[in-house]
Amino acid sequence: QMGIAITGSGSAVPVTFLDNQGLSELVETSDEWITTRTGIRQRRLANAADSLAELAAIASHQAIAMAGITPQEIDLILLATSTPDDLFGSACQIQAKLGATRAVAFDLTAACSGFVFGLVTAAQFIRTGVYHNVLLVGADILSRWVDWQDRRTCVLFGDAAGAVVLQANKSDRLLGFELKSDGTQNNCLNLAYNANSTELTPGVCVGQGGFLPITMNGKEVYRFAVQKVPEVIDKALFRANLCVEQVDWLLLHQANQRILDAVAQRLNIPEDKVISNLAYYGNTSAASIPLALDEAVRQGKIKSNDIIAASGFGAGLTWGAAIFQW
Ligand code: ACO
Repeated sequence: QMGIAITGSGSAVPVTFLDNQGLSELVETSDEWITTRTGIRQRRLANAADSLAELAAIASHQAIAMAGITPQEIDLILLATSTPDDLFGSACQIQAKLGATRAVAFDLTAACSGFVFGLVTAAQFIRTGVYHNVLLVGADILSRWVDWQDRRTCVLFGDAAGAVVLQANKSDRLLGFELKSDGTQNNCLNLAYNANSTELTPGVCVGQGGFLPITMNGKEVYRFAVQKVPEVIDKALFRANLCVEQVDWLLLHQANQRILDAVAQRLNIPEDKVISNLAYYGNTSAASIPLALDEAVRQGKIKSNDIIAASGFGAGLTWGAAIFQW
């Protein structure tokens, strides 16, 4: 069986930012409320001219350059997103922008868990020897779907893209993983299609309409994350035959500082091993893990051979953990 290594990372965010002060001019909120409840200070927001595929392509170029390969060498492009530019999928647009002519490309949807689910999916193709070089992108533009009048949700989210290159490798650096889903709790967090019945001819009706803005039961999602994320990391560590003391970096989906703190505390992982950049970007959904990873790598925080425990969690509900060595 072939092993896997992550050999490159990249990230991109829109230029425009909105800080908490700016948000408080839009909805009844304050910098104090947002900072103490979430740790978020500002978020990057895509404008109408920005596209998810373009942000993803910028992040991808960086990851491909770090890996030292060319776009033509990529066998597979996986785009983890819930907010494609096109509901038919945006991975092919990334393929075209990169000129990755050999690559097969498709989207994968698992909300904020998308990057971890994508990592594990990519790994299966490499382990079985089918593909050697995979580009995995996590990207979301949730600002398109947020109700900017709803202070319970609009303060939380930001837009970004992150990418990694995974390559076949003699030693396997994906040490363990665990993925989970629970559809019975689907109504905790939705970005749902809203059907209006339209009668085409007598007796023949179809659903027509758009999507409703994001709705969220914040307390339920908080409880879910703080309980399930430590469990799934424990399970992935067990599969990797590692103990928690061997983890160099805890790299969680950047939803909320209080969730990061609570998970670290439950796992007994000290604060200085917890990667956090959500103060500057908010919750960027599928992009948050590769964005934080790329920053930490480029800052020289994450070093060669460091062991990283990554975990994504979110709508679905979905959650999962992957333990890998940089
Ligand atoms: N500014 C000011 N007041 C607010 C705001 C706001 N932005 N939002 C809510 N409030 C008010 C509420 O109306 C409520 O007022 P009330 O008591 O008069 O009704 C009060 O603040 C408390 O609201 P709660 O919802 O109880 O606040 P809580 O302490 O639970 O914090 C939060 C809310 C931050 C959303 C928290 O529940 C949380 O972090 N949940 C997890 C959410 C999350 O991470 N989601 C994303 C993960 S999955 C994914 O990434 C897609």
